[in-house]
Amino acid sequence: MTRALSTPPVIAPGLLGDSPQPVLSATGGLLLRPWEESDAPAFLSAYQDDEIRRWHTRRPSSEAQAREWFDAYRQDWKREKGGHWAITRDGDEVLGRIALRGLDFDDGTANVAYWVLPIARGAGVASHSLWALTAWALHEIGFHRLELDHSTRNHASCRVATKSGYLLEGTKRSAAVHDDGRHDMHLHARIRGD
Ligand SMILES: CC(C)(COP(=O)(O)OP(=O)(O)OC[C@H]1O[C@@H](n2cnc3c(N)ncnc32)[C@H](O)[C@@H]1OP(=O)(O)O)[C@@H](O)C(=O)NCCC(=O)NCCS
Repeated sequence: MTRALSTPPVIAPGLLGDSPQPVLSATGGLLLRPWEESDAPAFLSAYQDDEIRRWHTRRPSSEAQAREWFDAYRQDWKREKGGHWAITRDGDEVLGRIALRGLDFDDGTANVAYWVLPIARGAGVASHSLWALTAWALHEIGFHRLELDHSTRNHASCRVATKSGYLLEGTKRSAAVHDDGRHDMHLHARIRGD
């Protein structure tokens, strides 16, 4: 299809999808790596946690479905729609999840999402991982703006965003449906040069 935009893409198509998804190192011995089939039990168990269920309404219902999601994640990478990483200790034990979604190569934008298993919380896992993913996306790949949104009631996520340099830009009123109804959402963003 002929490209109709008057401006060149911020990121050249193929920059991500033509190469394997990278493993990223983060402070504290954390390794962000692609999901593996054997992670399915840990991934499924995350969605039994009340806090994760509180903020994430899209949930796998079986290990088989988790593995289907991992397959979709691999397709997302190849099609340059998103990147999904397991947050691990030394590549082995799964501690959480972090993702870059909604990739827009024309504008150089994307959004981030994450959760951390209860046992690993409060030790910087989310913020160290977000810092590493952000540095890679902005400075190695060339994204210009990364967005992060969370319910205004999710104070821990707000803190992770702020600690990781994602400035609060405003409140999207009544923007998302959770199990207990509609929530206002904070919009945070970090741009290259912040
Ligand atoms: C939000 C979440 C990802 C944070 O993970 P984590 O690894 O514990 O995060 P970090 O340790 O990097 O930082 C957490 C920060 O939040 C703070 N915090 C935790 N609970 C809090 C609360 N109820 N109110 C305010 N701040 C809180 C911590 O004190 C810490 O800040 P500090 O370092 O200044 O003390 C994790 O709690 C989680 O997975 N929650 C459920 C799912 C979720 O909320 N996902 C995000 C949806 S947008």
